[in-house]
Amino acid sequence: MSQVIEFLNNRHSSGKLSEPGPSQSQLEQLLQIGVRAPDHGGLQPWQFIVMTGAGRAKLGDIFAQAATFNDAEPAKIDKARNMPMRAPTVITVITKYKEHPKVPWVEQIQSAGCALFSMQQAALAMGFGGIWRTGDFARDELVRDKLGLGIEDEIVGFLYLGTDLCDSHAHKTTKLADKVIYWD
Ligand SMILES: Cc1cc2nc3c(=O)[nH]c(=O)nc-3n(C[C@H](O)[C@H](O)[C@H](O)COP(=O)(O)O)c2cc1C
Repeated sequence: MSQVIEFLNNRHSSGKLSEPGPSQSQLEQLLQIGVRAPDHGGLQPWQFIVMTGAGRAKLGDIFAQAATFNDAEPAKIDKARNMPMRAPTVITVITKYKEHPKVPWVEQIQSAGCALFSMQQAALAMGFGGIWRTGDFARDELVRDKLGLGIEDEIVGFLYLGTDLCDSHAHKTTKLADKVIYWD
C-alpha cells in the first residue's frame, strides 16, 4: 500500500519519449486497465485508437490537413505532421457520448479522462514514460471528422507513450492551503 501511495505522489509526465514503446501484450494490459475506468451507468462511453508505426503518420497527415485548412504556414504544417512522431505509441482517447437520463455529458467526459489517466499511470508502473496532450487539434473540426467523432463526442486527449528520455522530473509544489477548504 505504501508503495502505491509513494508511486502516486511521485507520478510524473514525460515530454521526451523514444523507442521502444509498450509491446503488444503490454498495450493490451494498458487497454484492459483503461476499460476499468469508473463509469456511471456502465455506459463504457470510450473509444481508444492505438496508433503505432505508420498509424502515427496517418494521424500526422490528418493534423497536417487541418493545419493546411486553417491556412497555416508550411513550417507549421510540417510541425503538425510530425507531432504524433514524438513517441512510439499514441493512444487517442475519445468519449463516445451516449444519451442517458442519469449520466450527463460531463460525467462521460470524466470517465474517459479517468481511463486515459489510468493507462498513463499503468504505463509508468511498467517503466514507460507518457504525457497527456490535447492542443488545438483535439478540438479541430477536420480532425474530429476524420477520427469519426459525432457532434457530442470529444477527444479527451492523445496519450503519448514511450521510453522516458528526461533526466529528471521536477515537481511543482502546491500549498494545500491554497486549494483545500475543510468543513469540520
Ligand atoms: C486535459 C489535459 C490536456 C493537456 N494538454 C497538454 C498539451 O497539449 N501539451 C502539453 O505539453 N501538456 C499538456 N497537458 C499537461 C501534461 O499532460 C502534464 O500534466 C503537465 O506537463 C504537468 O506534468 P506532470 O504530469 O509531471 O505534473 C495536458 C494535461 C491535461 C490534464
